[in-house]
Amino acid sequence: MPLDNITPLIQKIARQAHVTFKGCTPSVGPDNELFLEKQELLNALVTAVRAADLEIVPRNKPGPMIKEQDPAGPSVTYMHICETDTFSMGVFLLSSGASIPLHDHPGMHGMLKVLYGKVSIRCFDILEADDADLTDVNSSDRPRFDPPVSDCQTDHLRRSALRSLGEYSEDSGPCVLTPLRHNIHQIDAVDGATAFLDILAPPYDPDDGRDCHYYKVLKTVAAAGSESKQQQEQDEGENEKGEEMWLLKISQPEDFWCGGEPYPGPDVSF
Ligand SMILES: [Fe+2]
Repeated sequence: MPLDNITPLIQKIARQAHVTFKGCTPSVGPDNELFLEKQELLNALVTAVRAADLEIVPRNKPGPMIKEQDPAGPSVTYMHICETDTFSMGVFLLSSGASIPLHDHPGMHGMLKVLYGKVSIRCFDILEADDADLTDVNSSDRPRFDPPVSDCQTDHLRRSALRSLGEYSEDSGPCVLTPLRHNIHQIDAVDGATAFLDILAPPYDPDDGRDCHYYKVLKTVAAAGSESKQQQEQDEGENEKGEEMWLLKISQPEDFWCGGEPYPGPDVSF
């Protein structure tokens, strides 16, 4: 087969994303070989993409082309590339020190590939509800939180596990999430400004049960009131992969909002 050096890489990625995720249901996962084959092809294309392929000028290096950061503007912006019923694709740009707070992608697959700079990503899985009766404030099974969680917040508690914590640069492969694995994540810019390509399938759609929710990690205290092991680890920033933690669904943090800016790269069509 002749090499196709004419079609822009982002167009190839879009076509493969469409093929990979077309008809994909939330239950399609690691046991579906056909899906994994198609996902691997997409993974290879996404791994190769760089900022230059999207005609994006890195903002983490000095130079005359650098757009000045507006101190009053958002620290996170989004460049929309395309959206179909099957997937959405765009670029998030984070200024130095910016974060995208802990959030989910309900029933969705995702792929995140750094274009320049470096990000730290920590991913959580929601665990099945256990037998603890969280509505009974006197139950010994109910974890104790600091600060305490009110009764009306009980429905927003989610037992979870920290699944991965890692740093990604342009030379890293994509960070991949599925409806059940690594679905909740927080993304922090590390050592300056950064940008990453973001593919979600299917796209967010509140009318179809796919709204974005935000979370915060709760601190727990030991029953006797003494500092628990988890509390000590949280304070020291040493949570380990696989560790069970509690998340609380919250409103979008007031100090976070995402602006928009035009995508400068090659057009994507179907
Ligand atoms: Fe995300």
